[in-house]
Amino acid sequence: MRSKIVAGNWKMNKNLADTETLLAELSAKLPDTNAEVMVSPTYVNLVGATRALENSTIEVIAQNMHFAESGAFTGEISADMLLGIGVNTAIIGHSERRAYFGETDAILAKKVATALSKNIRTMFCFGEELEDRQSGNHFKVVESQLKNALFSLNASAWSSIVLAYEPVWAIGTGETASPEQAQEMHAFIRKTIAEQYNTDVADGVSILYGGSVKPGNAAEIFSKPDVDGGLIGGASLVADDFVAIIKAI
Ligand code: PGA
Repeated sequence: MRSKIVAGNWKMNKNLADTETLLAELSAKLPDTNAEVMVSPTYVNLVGATRALENSTIEVIAQNMHFAESGAFTGEISADMLLGIGVNTAIIGHSERRAYFGETDAILAKKVATALSKNIRTMFCFGEELEDRQSGNHFKVVESQLKNALFSLNASAWSSIVLAYEPVWAIGTGETASPEQAQEMHAFIRKTIAEQYNTDVADGVSILYGGSVKPGNAAEIFSKPDVDGGLIGGASLVADDFVAIIKAI
């Protein structure tokens, strides 16, 4: 059975004191759930967050990592650095990394390979832009993102992959894919993986939806059979909203 997951992507928000405050509030209010709950503060607060959550079931995950083992990559963070502070999952390929930091499918393929070789679970993000959807190319774009970054992996590697389908037009815009649009794309993604690998791989991978998930729309989106949870941006910065979204799953 694939996992249900609710993950908060805090992006470049919250200093250390704010991080500790939000985590204390989240820990106090965390509902009973079978879902995995994750939070992703910025790099400099990962250590503080892992300490604050030492006795919690909430997992601290990274927003990114570099593909190289170590070396002259000013400003970057390696897989071993994450492992060294107890962070075992990394978001890779977020659309903001693709759009603002030039991360191409080829770079992302290298990051995924490094993460998996280090036993870092990979939350791989992908999704089409508005013009792709308007021109009817959204399935093609999503298929090529998957193919270019993930389809040279062995089937066994997929047990360490979580997918986050995030249509770019719905991120931070208040626009959400309708539950039907999310289900349609998630079913397409699963079918594409089944065709490339097999149904065991396709049925085993958790596919999260991301893009303006809020307390008011989470339950309906999560009720769709191929939606296994959410990657939450803005609403994960407010404890009551994030808790409501966790309850919705
Ligand atoms: P949002 O962000 O929930 O603020 O739209 C989602 C994401 O970028 O992961």
